[in-house]
Amino acid sequence: MESAVVHKIREELADVAAAAPGTSMSMSPPYYTSPDFLKLEEELLFRKEWVCLGHEGEVASPGDYFTTELVGEQLIVLRTRTGTVSVLSNVCRHRGNLIITGSGNSRRFTCPYHAWTYDDEGKLLAAPRMDAVEGFDKRDMCLPSFKCEIWMGFIYVNLSGDAAPLAPRLEALEPMIRNYELSKRRLAFATEEVWKTNWKCLAENFMEGYHLSPMHPRTLHPYTPTELCVKGPSGDYFTTYWANHSASWPELTNPPENLTAEEAHTTPMFWVAPNHVVAVSPLSTLYLCLRPNGAGEVAIRWGTVTTLSHGDSDIERHVKFCQMFNEEDRVKLEDLQMGLQSQYLGRSFLAPEDFEGTIRDMNAFVARRLAAGAASAVGD
Ligand code: FES
Ligand SMILES: [Fe+2]
Repeated sequence: MESAVVHKIREELADVAAAAPGTSMSMSPPYYTSPDFLKLEEELLFRKEWVCLGHEGEVASPGDYFTTELVGEQLIVLRTRTGTVSVLSNVCRHRGNLIITGSGNSRRFTCPYHAWTYDDEGKLLAAPRMDAVEGFDKRDMCLPSFKCEIWMGFIYVNLSGDAAPLAPRLEALEPMIRNYELSKRRLAFATEEVWKTNWKCLAENFMEGYHLSPMHPRTLHPYTPTELCVKGPSGDYFTTYWANHSASWPELTNPPENLTAEEAHTTPMFWVAPNHVVAVSPLSTLYLCLRPNGAGEVAIRWGTVTTLSHGDSDIERHVKFCQMFNEEDRVKLEDLQMGLQSQYLGRSFLAPEDFEGTIRDMNAFVARRLAAGAASAVGD
């Protein structure tokens, strides 16, 4: 039975879906604070859609793996002996223990509980003393393997297994970023953090230029000030804007030669629904993969990929720069999450298209799936 709070959020989303183009209202606080609404998002967005888990550079060599968690599912992301990236369940088929933790390199995974051992395709290789058990057959005890797609070097998983291929959904986004050659950029840095904010607050924050000057006066404002932001194309599964560079920002000495003069002076920003946000600057890409951890908390796997060669001090400088403005965003978003507990804040107005039009696009994506009356939503 749908709670009154969830019902009200879904009615608001129906209003978002029906709004005339150009009109943009924000969502009211329960959209960002309701644990019941998060359950709906987990079922209908995070299990049914393509969700980005990280960058393939994190599993560069055969045998490389890392573990992660998505809406309660424990996962192993790995590169197999044959060089493909795959995503397996990290839950042992015996009695459910976690098979491995952290990251590393291995071709076999042995559950520490009773030593059942799996290969890199999830096949059960060994199960001590189980041959004596009637009806037991190792071939029936593979680890579930999830649908996986690499797009621009990023690893996406689809838990439900029935999402249509990802790349065609993002074709209309590609011209904006094509010359930056994301697939050729190498991983320079990756880490995992937890922030006390709703996952959508962080996605929206990354994708709106309205806050850049007031919130980042010494970091991003001198580089990509609010006044130069321009909304870019959007589609059913993505939205974009250009964070154009200030004329006073130092010129690149060696911009990649396939970038146009215009492309060398801007940072395309894009969101792939529901959880992946990316800033593509001329030399480096900053990406964040968001995984809800309760309504008021988000796990973030973020990193940078770059055209710079390893050991280049510019990489270190870029990572430090990202860490500085990320920290500014974290502090503010954790304050925001406290503000959103208020019972006296309703819906408000979003800033014009170039500054917060992306938030309207993101709300519209959620509305198409979760609004009252939406085809995919439950309870209608
Ligand atoms: S739970 Fe993994 S071997 Fe028993
Ligand atoms: Fe920010």
